[in-house]
Amino acid sequence: MLRIGRRKRQGLCPSADISSNDLRFGGLVMSMNSIAVLTSGGDAPGMNAAVRAVARTAIANGIRVIGVRRGYNGLISGDVFEMNLRSVSDIIHRGGTTLFTARSPEFNTPAGVQKAADTCRDLGIGGVVVIGGDGSFRGARDLTNAGIPCVGIPGTIDNDIQCSEYTIGFDTAMNTAMEMVDRIRDTAQSHDRCSVVEVMGRRCGDIALLTGIAVGATSILVPEVEYDFQKDIIDRMQFTQMTGKKHFIVVVAEGIGGVEQLAKDIEDKTGIESRATVLGHVQRGGSPTLRDRVVASEMGYKAVELLVQGKSNRVVAMRHGDIVDFDITEALQMKKQFNKELYDIALKISI
Ligand code: F6P
Repeated sequence: MLRIGRRKRQGLCPSADISSNDLRFGGLVMSMNSIAVLTSGGDAPGMNAAVRAVARTAIANGIRVIGVRRGYNGLISGDVFEMNLRSVSDIIHRGGTTLFTARSPEFNTPAGVQKAADTCRDLGIGGVVVIGGDGSFRGARDLTNAGIPCVGIPGTIDNDIQCSEYTIGFDTAMNTAMEMVDRIRDTAQSHDRCSVVEVMGRRCGDIALLTGIAVGATSILVPEVEYDFQKDIIDRMQFTQMTGKKHFIVVVAEGIGGVEQLAKDIEDKTGIESRATVLGHVQRGGSPTLRDRVVASEMGYKAVELLVQGKSNRVVAMRHGDIVDFDITEALQMKKQFNKELYDIALKISI
């Protein structure tokens, strides 16, 4: 919650010398009458908190806010509604997205982008906040190129946005995965079994890495690091077995997959009864953690600030814990760094 003094400094309180359409953020005065907000791609816990922050920040500055349903599809078809302060009441703690979401094949065509831009122009929308992953940011770049200023907010459980060390939903998803694997571990321990658990993350092993560390997995398989079945799984299991361990957890990122076969191969090779579990979409739901709610709130605020400052084709990001922004086109070209140091620590201590 911002205190009054700061609100005044940042232009969050109406002031006699500012018309409702002229806004002051960080000293700049810009004209921005109407902002649209949408969620796109896979949903993530905390998206609602981001929508709430966008709507409340804009409304506090006299900007009209348009909620767009089902991502870019809603912009194409005009499935939109005017938001007020109460439109975003009672959603900060809810998983999913009250705006609904979609991946829009039509928006991937020039005609689709044009239709969406036309809807924005018809409705007088001066800027769009897009909450989603890198596919959604490519859409935001295309819409900006079609004349509608866009700002992206990273919302995906995968933590796979190159320019940001954090994406909204990651913390909740990891905590859900951890809780689920803890439960699996209870039964693996009772039966002296090996449990092979697949967590989400097609191209990014961050959920697997951090969850794997948190549950003490004997092996963690991620798309970023090649693995050897004998050395990285069997040898480690057999070594720990010699030291007295009788149950094992292997965490596998979705991008590696094949957990049923892996469990069978482990059982064939070691004689240890093995079971496979795919956690799946359970990781995408649930009430967002404190971290996701707070980061989403900060990022939503920042996105509106950028549009008001006249910036476009930007993506909000976290760097060294600070909320910053990058050019979307440059951000999409950055390479996501995998935390190999943390991976090596996991190998050393989970044995
Ligand atoms: O991008 C988030 C994510 O949950 C990935 O981890 C997963 O690969 C994908 O979405 C699943 O997408 P869908 O819900 O369309 O099956």
